[in-house]
Parts: sequence; C-alpha cells; structure tokens
Amino acid sequence: MRTVTAIMVPPASKARQAFLRDVLEGLQGHPKRLQSKYFYDAAGDALFQQIMHCAEYYLTRCEMEILETQSAAIVASIRASVPQADLVELGAGDASKSVHLLREWMRSGMGHRYYPIDISGNIIRHLQNTLPDQLPGLEVHGLNGEYMEMLAQSGQTSGRPRLVMFMGSSIGNFTPEEAIGFLSAVRRQLRPGDFLLTGFDLQKNPRLILDAYNDHQGLTRSFNLNLLTRINRELDANFLTHQFLHYPTYDPATGACKSYLISLRDQAVHIGGTVIRFRKDEPIYMEISQKYTIDGIHELAAGCGFTPVKNFTDDKGWFVDALWQAK
Ligand code: AVI
Repeated sequence: MRTVTAIMVPPASKARQAFLRDVLEGLQGHPKRLQSKYFYDAAGDALFQQIMHCAEYYLTRCEMEILETQSAAIVASIRASVPQADLVELGAGDASKSVHLLREWMRSGMGHRYYPIDISGNIIRHLQNTLPDQLPGLEVHGLNGEYMEMLAQSGQTSGRPRLVMFMGSSIGNFTPEEAIGFLSAVRRQLRPGDFLLTGFDLQKNPRLILDAYNDHQGLTRSFNLNLLTRINRELDANFLTHQFLHYPTYDPATGACKSYLISLRDQAVHIGGTVIRFRKDEPIYMEISQKYTIDGIHELAAGCGFTPVKNFTDDKGWFVDALWQAK
C-alpha cells in the first residue's frame, strides 16, 4: 500500500507560488504582461497614497467631492424604495470617502451596519478599531477575504436589503469584458431591489487623463517600477529597474488608458531560476484604467442585470458614482 504524506503548505508560501506562477505566465506570454493587483505591497500602498494626493490624479478628489456634497441625495434615492438597509463596501481601504455616506446613512435612520470587505486583514482591523469612534453607534462587521465569497457571507448575515459600494474607479482596472463578468457576479450575490454604487472615471480631455497617469513627480512611474522591485525581492529576481521606461497611453476612441514598461535594451532577467529575455523596445503591459461614457455605463448596467437609478457627478463632470438597482 502506498503511503500518502500530506504536506502542509504555509499560506505565505502558497501566496508566493501563486505570485511566481502569475509572473512567469505573464512574462512568457505575447505580449508580456504583469497583473496590476500585485502593485500593492507596502511600498506600492504608500506610493498609491501619494498618487491620490498628487496634483494630476483628479479621480480621488472628484469622488471625495461627490460623497462630501451628495451623500444625502444618494441616501434619499435609496430611501425612495427601501426604508432600511445595510451597507457593504468592496475594497473598503481606509473608508475616508465612504465615511461621509455612512454618516448620512445613520443620520437619516437608514441603518447602522457596515460590512467592509477587504483582502487585507490589517485594513479590516483598522476600520473596526477606528470607525466606531468617528461614528458612534456604527456596527462594523469586517469581512476579510475574496470579494464574492465575502459578499455571499454578508448576504447570509445581513438578511436586509443591501447597498454595495465599489468606489474609486476600481472597476476601471478591469477590461470592459472583465467588468461585465465582475458586475454580473456581484449581481448574482444580490437580491432584487438591492443597490450597487460604483465609481467610474469618465472620458474627458485626453491630456487630463494621460497626465493623471504620468505625474510630474514620477510617482506613477515609481508605482509601476515598484512591481519589478517587488519581484526581485519576493521571487529572487534581478530586474534592473533603470533599464525600463514607464510608458502610459490613452486611446480616446475606446477610453482605454494603459500603462506599459518598455525594455530599454536587449536584456535577460532571472526570476526564481527561470530566464526571461526582453528585446529592446519590447513592452510589458502593466495596467488598464478604463474610462467610460454615461451611455456606456447605462449599457453596462442593463447587461449585468441592473436598472440605472441615478448618476452622481462632481462639479466638473469628470467622475460619476452610478447608483443601480438589482432587477
Ligand atoms: C486603483 N485604481 C483605480 C487606480 C487607477 O486609477 O487605475 C490605480 C492607479 N494606477 C496608476 N495610478 C493609479
């Protein structure tokens, strides 16, 4: 009889294996690519915080303005069809924007239960420790894990109508086809009458968009190059970051804003024992930040099983938080 020995793989090493597999698959493909979800190690988080405060990156300021000035109107639109509901947020981060909606939510008697969902346990712990001080009476039910799994869990625990928030133009980091898949999956976790509030960056003067991903301080450049540094550190690789050029692009015809790193010479990079060759001028596709039109957003809602309720835009009309109701 054969003896089967179960090997317990510690989670950190499992995560490293998945990272290594994704990096090698991406860099062995044509065209080469890396997944932007890996941008966010500690250095990447810190750089993203700086990007959100830099002059060119208008997205965060626009959405903050919407939530600071229109939270009462958002709540009123929901209240018109449900008297009470729970609030769920996908990728809650520091909740610095959603806190405005939460305050209005509680003030108007909509409810007092907040289910922040995040892949980072640190973020969930931080929200559970700090939010109730900021908003007395708020119950924070943190859910640490993958979005769809945690969304299903919030449905079982809550039992009430829900407003799910997906803010910050995170939807833009999916291709339009992936966005349909993602939002349809969210819909499958909701009951008819539940709400979804999604932050979309709108198509606008192409220069404004391109500048947002090519800031003069070079923060977005460092943000992209940091992924190579992360691969060096975590996957035993030897990228020379100065041999890659940060190259953001924006196509005003499709709304696709894409970032690439361009190899400045023929070079070979060792990653965990595998050699990856780069030709001079060869691109690595790093990230998409898709920009939408209002018509495109309405089509997306219909295609994913939602009815558009109302669009909340900033004063300049650059960004929209779109409120949809599940059919
Ligand atoms: C997180 N996400 C919405 C940002 C964006 O605008 O696509 C990430 C980012 N990449 C470069 N700058 C900001």
